[in-house]
Amino acid sequence: MAHVIAVAGKGGVGKTTLCGLLIQYLCDKRKTPVLAVDADANSNLNEVLGVDVEMTLGEIREDVERSADGSTSKIPAGMSKADYMEMMVNRCLIEDDDFDMLVMGRTQGKGCYCFVNGLLQAQLAKLTPNYPYMVVDNEAGMEHISRGILPKVDTIILVSDCSRRGVQAVGRIKELIKECDLRPTSIGLIINRAPEGKLNQGTMEEVEKQGLDLLGVIPQDEAVYEYDCDGKPIVQLPKDSPVRKALYEILDKLNF
Ligand SMILES: Nc1ncnc2c1ncn2[C@@H]1O[C@H](COP(=O)(O)OP(=O)(O)OP(=O)(O)O)[C@@H](O)[C@H]1O
Ligand SMILES: [Mg+2]
Repeated sequence: MAHVIAVAGKGGVGKTTLCGLLIQYLCDKRKTPVLAVDADANSNLNEVLGVDVEMTLGEIREDVERSADGSTSKIPAGMSKADYMEMMVNRCLIEDDDFDMLVMGRTQGKGCYCFVNGLLQAQLAKLTPNYPYMVVDNEAGMEHISRGILPKVDTIILVSDCSRRGVQAVGRIKELIKECDLRPTSIGLIINRAPEGKLNQGTMEEVEKQGLDLLGVIPQDEAVYEYDCDGKPIVQLPKDSPVRKALYEILDKLNF
């Protein structure tokens, strides 16, 4: 079964950036193929990785849900919903050299998606054994994980900026993880965008108060911001970029 790593944290702290670099790390270490899953409704992990998305699972979920209420559907006559889901999940899979990627996307309909989500969950469960690692970029609520659409998580990497409030926010996410009974093997915290890669005392105190396991600190790096503004994939950052180096050192300690 794939080792599932989920990245979570409040908005704009650098989850997607670090997720992209984590996928690159696993590819560099030949832990391939990696399954990258973008589980944020505002998906943009593909931009960090430099791949194009043609179709999201949200669109498929909507198709199947629509067919259930008798509206026009794209499901070919005579095909079961489960078979259609299987065919479409495979079509949604973006294949790159060392990783494949799925985008959860979002659904706009008001219907109940429980049935559709169940089909999707079954398909994903069939797919994941093909990969030694699966990396999931989440939004703060971790909807797809907490609803069980995505499989059980082994490692959760919480990301925060270097503010006290940022650390309090990941403290709440940690509580949510407990409430949802996710039971990961490990939960660690990475502080991102710290000036000169240093944490100040107040933030450090908050990390301890929240009972978080600090894995490491990543510096603020203007190059990351510039790549972002120029629409250049972050994974094209030079090997000696401070952000990449800092993250790789942290990941080395996690023994993936
Ligand atoms: N270490 C860093 N140094 C400088 N800029 C950074 C760093 N990490 C991330 N950024 C920038 O911060 C912004 C937000 O990053 P990113 O999109 O990865 O955050 P996010 O947590 O995924 O956001 P969202 O909650 O919207 O999904 C981007 O412009 C990114 O380039
Ligand atoms: Mg993001």
